[in-house]
Amino acid sequence: MQEEQSFEIEGDGDLNNIAFLKTQITECQGNPRQVVVFSVFGLRICCCFPRSNSIMWLMGRKGASGFSYSSTAEEVTQEIDGNGLTAIVTGATSGIGAETTRVLAMRGVHVVMAVRNVTAGEDVKVAILNEIPAAKIDVFKLDLSSVASVRKFAEEYNSSGHPLHLLINNAGIMATPFKLSKDGIELQFATNHLGHFLLTNLLLDTMKKTVNSSNRKGRIVIVSSAAHRFAYREGICFDRINDESRYNSLSAYGQSKLANILHAKELARQLKEEGVNITANSLHPGSIVTNLLHHHRLLDGKFLAGLIHTIGKFILKNVQQGAATTCYVALHGQVEGVSGEYFVDSNKSMPSSLAKDEVLAKKLWDFSVSLLADSE
Ligand SMILES: NC(=O)c1ccc[n+]([C@@H]2O[C@H](COP(=O)([O-])OP(=O)(O)OC[C@H]3O[C@@H](n4cnc5c(N)ncnc54)[C@H](OP(=O)(O)O)[C@@H]3O)[C@@H](O)[C@H]2O)c1
Repeated sequence: MQEEQSFEIEGDGDLNNIAFLKTQITECQGNPRQVVVFSVFGLRICCCFPRSNSIMWLMGRKGASGFSYSSTAEEVTQEIDGNGLTAIVTGATSGIGAETTRVLAMRGVHVVMAVRNVTAGEDVKVAILNEIPAAKIDVFKLDLSSVASVRKFAEEYNSSGHPLHLLINNAGIMATPFKLSKDGIELQFATNHLGHFLLTNLLLDTMKKTVNSSNRKGRIVIVSSAAHRFAYREGICFDRINDESRYNSLSAYGQSKLANILHAKELARQLKEEGVNITANSLHPGSIVTNLLHHHRLLDGKFLAGLIHTIGKFILKNVQQGAATTCYVALHGQVEGVSGEYFVDSNKSMPSSLAKDEVLAKKLWDFSVSLLADSE
């Protein structure tokens, strides 16, 4: 062993069962290796990775855009002037949405936080204003799992007189136990896809008016996930969207995230056909430890959640990096006019073959319209 470093674990009662953690650089068959050692309930666990420098090099390797896995939202928007733009960010109370709000506001964008918990939204707004006194932020109530709430939000927004240049469909839940929304639709599909689908449709006229009158282009950014690859085998279970007997919480999350990419794809096609100056793209933000994981029943106990938080600090993105791709797709000049694409680490990327299926995208569009008609 050439070098040794020890880390204290932050945490309360349960986390103290992770007794210690340290990293060491060692040699394995002549190659440098980063060894991470921790002790769980007295059981010693040892993970071996290529030397940390190699990991750091891989994470820092830049793609065609000049940005990488490690780039932060501030870095990808440096020197971009967002003054005069107005954005809606859904799910802006925590994680990626809160950081997206902060960085867009820092660049001069007027941000409307669309949140289901208005008190939490106001707290985030106050924290941002403490850091950026000139920030322009409003908080509006929006529960994406309720058709009535989405309609009410859209009515209020459309009659507020605010323009709309950027719509950032970020809010999400992950791997929840089976539940139907108020409108009788499986909750992850209802929240992650259908609520955003309706919201986008209801705000589109305001966006079109804005781009026509302000001579600036509109962008719709849909936060999906690499987990779209874990959707059910057929992708979207059109005939069994509410079938509890077949429900798998991760496949249902994957299904809703696949729907996000297909939504962006079909929307981009329609906007191009109409000749409107609005683009639609989707993205995977990376893996970041946020509140999103709290919904998973495996993480109910503080122990596993603590373990993931602890290990996550070493191998996952932080929230500043997690918001980078969203902010890049929303603001960067390189993305001007680009539509129907999927981004990862602030670079164009390839989703699964199901996510590229134009027929499936159109079928999902028609299915979403019919579900909403049923819930009227
Ligand atoms: N974190 C990751 O590793 C990761 C990876 C891939 C994709 N993503 C995607 O990134 C997006 C943001 O997730 P995050 O990691 O930042 O998670 P997060 O910290 O849990 O944030 C999710 C946000 O969505 C809001 N939300 C949930 N249900 C809602 C509803 N019915 N109506 C309105 N808002 C609702 C939450 O509001 P409350 O505060 O009221 O709960 C919260 O503000 C999600 O779409 C997620 O699928 C995340």
